[in-house]
Amino acid sequence: MDFLKDKKLLFRLWIGLLALGLVVLAITNYRVNFYGNSRLLPVSLGIFVTATFLLGIYFQKVRVVMHGAAFMIFVAAAFAGFSNWLPQTIGEPPPFEEKIADISTMSTQELADLGEKLIFGAVGASTVKGSIGKGQCPLCHVFGSSEHGERAPNMYGLPDRSEKIVKLDEYQNRDTVQTVAFDGSGIAESGLEYMAESHACPNCYVSPGFGKGGTNDRESPMPAIHKSPINLTIDEMVAIDTWSYIREGLEAPSVDEMRVAYEKFIPEDERPQASSGADGEGEGGESQLYATGDEPLPKLFEKAQCTVCHVIPGIPDADEGDFGPELYVKTNAPKRMKDKNYTGSASSVEAYILESILDPNLYIVPDFDEDLMPEDFGTGLNAKTVFRIVNYLSQLEKGKDPPNHEEM
Ligand code: HEC
Ligand code: HEC
Repeated sequence: MDFLKDKKLLFRLWIGLLALGLVVLAITNYRVNFYGNSRLLPVSLGIFVTATFLLGIYFQKVRVVMHGAAFMIFVAAAFAGFSNWLPQTIGEPPPFEEKIADISTMSTQELADLGEKLIFGAVGASTVKGSIGKGQCPLCHVFGSSEHGERAPNMYGLPDRSEKIVKLDEYQNRDTVQTVAFDGSGIAESGLEYMAESHACPNCYVSPGFGKGGTNDRESPMPAIHKSPINLTIDEMVAIDTWSYIREGLEAPSVDEMRVAYEKFIPEDERPQASSGADGEGEGGESQLYATGDEPLPKLFEKAQCTVCHVIPGIPDADEGDFGPELYVKTNAPKRMKDKNYTGSASSVEAYILESILDPNLYIVPDFDEDLMPEDFGTGLNAKTVFRIVNYLSQLEKGKDPPNHEEM
């Protein structure tokens, strides 16, 4: 064994093994600390630098390469060390819908933010297409200054428009199915009161051209938003109005003025209360949206918002919706699929319902307007919700009793 006598070679072998040991140590440290919140990752790079440097000193031929490598790893280590030491953020689940605080203690901006959240689901969501909150207004209304409302008037310019509408002869001498909110309420005398009346009593005055089909604008398709299924409290409607003023750069009336306007059109026994939070099934405070799929069917249809637009046979309280057809789907789906204008691809009642939910404009039921049923509707519903909806609707037949929803 000649080379054992060569001291220089022996020394190099020893250094080589030491460097190898350091590399193994560095890799082990890296693996152990890669997951989790440890901040020891840069230690590995430090050990690498040492190992490379060591090799560079004693292996003359590769010295330049080794020192170059050591330097690069050192720079990398410095960066990694720096970012590794920054505070680590941990993803948190979104907070639960907070209970509505006393709005008279809120700043105007906070109140407007609450209004935006009630309409669109989140602060800042008014610019995000398809956003919808507890108030459900974007189901029917558009809000952008340049958008055209198909289903309902554009909400842009509402505060100004309201001032003008109350002075119109058509407004003051209206001939609708319900000319006052309740006996003795009177009609609106200011723009602010008009907004409150529009929310509490959509039938009182119907915007020309937007009435229920065939009623000659004498009846409104909009649900009274302080009643089921939307159930907003007076304070929540005040927040929505505040947003309507603020976002157009207008000064909002005071909370008290707005409350008085709503009290003019909503009798005491019809005013929804904010939920106490204790029973978890409060009428007002919590979000109606986002069905889990486990609620009783009537609640499920309400949360999925179908009842705003459709009459659903056999479901209590689903007898008002007038935007879409009555959902006798078992009777109607076969007729639709045979229609020579049918452009969908369903061949069973169930598939037809699915298609109607997920891609509503694929085929438009005769005598109904295009673009009425929201396009991105299906994305907010989970599989269990959709399954139970399809299961129930597919059994609804004209002239037959609907199935018992309590067993489904
Ligand atoms: C199911 C569809 C639908 C929903 C949901 C809906 N609206 Fe309406 N809304 C209408 C229709 C249609 C009209 C026009 C007929 C009328 O004047 O009643 C209207 C009219 C109005 C008016 C009067 C507008 C004007 O120019 O005179 C206001 C204000 C209003 N809605 C506010 C709201 C708010 C706020 C929400 C949400 C909390 C909402 N609406 C939810 C359909 C809807
Ligand atoms: C904003 C109003 C609106 C909402 C909300 C809505 N729909 Fe519709 N829906 C319509 C309109 C309008 C039509 C008819 C025009 C068309 O075919 O798109 C329709 C058509 C349908 C049809 C076809 C009916 C037939 O006779 O062929 C089905 C099924 C249906 N909707 C189911 C649902 C379900 C389930 C929900 C809730 C998850 C829902 N819709 C929510 C407006 C709505």
